[in-house]
Amino acid sequence: MLIVLSCAGAILTSFAAAESPGGFSRSNYIPHLGDIMGATQLRHIKLSFAGKLRNWELAAYELDQIKESFQDAATLYPGIPVTDMTIVAEPVRRLGEAIQAKDPRKFSAAFVELTAACNGCHQAIGRGFIVIKVPTSSPFSNQTFEPATKP
Ligand code: HEC
Repeated sequence: MLIVLSCAGAILTSFAAAESPGGFSRSNYIPHLGDIMGATQLRHIKLSFAGKLRNWELAAYELDQIKESFQDAATLYPGIPVTDMTIVAEPVRRLGEAIQAKDPRKFSAAFVELTAACNGCHQAIGRGFIVIKVPTSSPFSNQTFEPATKP
């Protein structure tokens, strides 16, 4: 048993240190902008349902995730004009306020603004064919969006 465990440990260690032929390692992995955006799209859906169902804790979490993705996009892809990045700053701020105030009306208004800002950048950056909209149904049957206790 001990041998098996230490063996597994060695395999894991060598896996962690492994580099692909292109010199690609865990420490210099840079996600593609399209992948950062794909994750943002999922969070956009989750944020929408968390807000709709007044799960403010989850909404705050998903908003943070979106903010981090935007930060990553701006840092890793400085080719994105700053003006396009600032498009989202105001709606993100308003969403934060709505979540703190636990105000569903303010939340849905700010969510529409955020969605327009997503498209604003896509249009400005020559990706106007990527059109984001407020989701109407959740594709996540494996996650609960209702708050644990009634809001
Ligand atoms: C500052 C600019 C900018 C903002 C803001 C922005 N995007 Fe994007 N988005 C891009 C760019 C550029 C691409 C194309 C990436 C590529 O071609 O690699 C993209 C691509 C996408 C894609 C396509 C990814 C795929 O694999 O299908 C989705 C989905 C997406 N964005 C969602 C969003 C959502 C949702 C928001 C708002 C919450 C948002 N984006 C805000 C610049 C932006």
